[in-house]
Amino acid sequence: MPATCVFGAQWGDEGKGKIIDGLARDADVVVRYQGGANAGHTVIVGGAKYVLHLIPSGILHRSKLNVIGNGLAVDPLKFIEEVEGLRARGVAVDGSNLRLSSAAHVIFEHHKRIDHASERWRGVGRIGTTGRGIGPCYADKAARTGLRVADLLEPERCRRRLAAALAEKNALLTQVHGEAPLSLEEQLERYMHLGEELRPFVGDTGAEVRAAYRAGKQILFEGAQGAMLDIDHGSYPYVTSSNTGSDGVAAGAGFPARWMDRVVGIAKAYCTRVGEGPFPSEDHGADGVKIREAGNEYGATTGRPRRCGWFDVLAMRYSLELNGADGWIMTNLDVLDSFEEIKVATAYEVGGKLHTQWPGAHVDLADVKVRLESAKGWKTDITGVRRYEDLPALTRKYVEWVEKLVGVPIVMLSVGPDRDQIIPRAGLEVALARA
Ligand code: IMP
Repeated sequence: MPATCVFGAQWGDEGKGKIIDGLARDADVVVRYQGGANAGHTVIVGGAKYVLHLIPSGILHRSKLNVIGNGLAVDPLKFIEEVEGLRARGVAVDGSNLRLSSAAHVIFEHHKRIDHASERWRGVGRIGTTGRGIGPCYADKAARTGLRVADLLEPERCRRRLAAALAEKNALLTQVHGEAPLSLEEQLERYMHLGEELRPFVGDTGAEVRAAYRAGKQILFEGAQGAMLDIDHGSYPYVTSSNTGSDGVAAGAGFPARWMDRVVGIAKAYCTRVGEGPFPSEDHGADGVKIREAGNEYGATTGRPRRCGWFDVLAMRYSLELNGADGWIMTNLDVLDSFEEIKVATAYEVGGKLHTQWPGAHVDLADVKVRLESAKGWKTDITGVRRYEDLPALTRKYVEWVEKLVGVPIVMLSVGPDRDQIIPRAGLEVALARA
């Protein structure tokens, strides 16, 4: 019985929303295990566009159970906003199809304020966060001063823990950041009220997911952000604050690592990144602009233009190996339709040394110069193609070349934003059968 993890294998925004939405059709339970409303999963259903930040993409399918695991940093305001937004569009959402872990950490107003203030404080060294309070909330989790969803449901505990937290956060806000303090009473009222709205959804989701797995249900774990933004294995410090790949599932969903049957990475046919930090294969010239416009590369959460560049073989090999991927899905292949020449980063040069494998944390990625190799573009609109053999020969050549360089089978291609714009590969059945 398969438990599958689907994760972003680059710097986020790999088009996971659409793929996960497709895979969710065969799943019974869809689980988020890390991150928070910093994610933005875009799903287009029958021409209607849904952008989900916190709620798993399975919500758009009737009869799926959707789970927000303990590993998330949950902003209750965003949670309720998203539930109401879905209901307003006729999507049924209640405690029977959406579950929220009582052990997930809560993002408060002070976390968002501190996120913005810390970024200002960092100046040129800023991370370029989404400003959603993610880092400060996870920092409190690690410092053991955070509040969890369960705390919002217990008035006495909530008062005690929020009072203790705000005493310190108000000192930080006023004395370091020069901001007005937050009123404990106002915050308590707001968050305990929100807690009541959350109550019907709250439960021990780890136990619920394990029970579903034992009962033979299909479980899909939905990663947010990307492996290169992983707090431990990504391009630290320019990362998010959670474990974004399959590495995050055990801790963030309460699901034993050895129960995972299948891991699938998602990556675009090129690379993008939002926020600051090194991006070795970034293209600062006309090609980068062309990719941005053709791929509509603007952030789903913040609207920021994404930095664009070429497919990075070293980063990809690293992230697929690290997360134990059985296969991967190449998305946005159609974005390259109009290119005369398509480039791929196949090596890094640092301090006169050539690296053909990911160089590890001791190398500062900012010092990397990439070595690019080229393929001839196919210059054909492939958005209508649905079978691999119907792709232009040059497209297949590119796909197979990249697949060989990466060394992990590409099990599916995506050639447009709609649900049906996908091309299965022969390896897909093999990857599915293995589970
Ligand atoms: P944070 O997650 O808001 O703390 O932001 C940390 C870094 O992760 C920044 O570079 C963000 O731009 C990036 N990031 C966070 N969420 C996403 C996402 O969903 N897609 C791409 N980048 C993201």
